Amino acid sequence: MSLIKTAIVCVTAAVIFALVQGQGSVQPNCLGCICEASTQCNVSVGCHTPYAGAYFCGPFLISWAYWADAGKPVIQNDDPNRQGAFENCVNDLYCSAETVRQYMGKFATNGDCNEDGQVDCTDFAQMHRMGGYGCRDPSIRTTDFYKRFETCWKVVQAATVGGGSS
Ligand SMILES: *[C@@H]1O[C@H](CO)[C@@H](O)[C@H](O)[C@H]1NC(C)=O
Repeated sequence: MSLIKTAIVCVTAAVIFALVQGQGSVQPNCLGCICEASTQCNVSVGCHTPYAGAYFCGPFLISWAYWADAGKPVIQNDDPNRQGAFENCVNDLYCSAETVRQYMGKFATNGDCNEDGQVDCTDFAQMHRMGGYGCRDPSIRTTDFYKRFETCWKVVQAATVGGGSS
């Protein structure tokens, strides 16, 4: 994908995520790049089982365990204990973004995954992909996910006046 197209996708996702009224320190631009790196932020990907025991859904490729760690957010009027509540949430752009925010909130105190002395979007991307418990594993840097994230994040930072925001 060209840089221009990446920039457009990232910025579009960031505008959408800016509408998500969530708590926490994960900025809309950051959610946009994590979404972009996961599926090109495609809300139509649905659920798949890439290998036995794995089940990932929605534009952020969220697992049931991740959703549970995030506190089982649900779409409006849904019941977190209802069968299908997980899929309904993580296939929805807003609810999946809220899941990511809450997941990052849970692990933020242990959040300096790349050990550079600050907790920023790069750490959130590592946490998203590797899980909050294993986010310090440097092997993430060789993944396509990480390369896509880095490309998006550079574009977003270059486009953001002042840059450097997380
Ligand atoms: C989104 O994912 C669906 C299902 O995999 C696919 O058919 C569609 O082409 C994708 N859309 C984009 C814009 O990539």
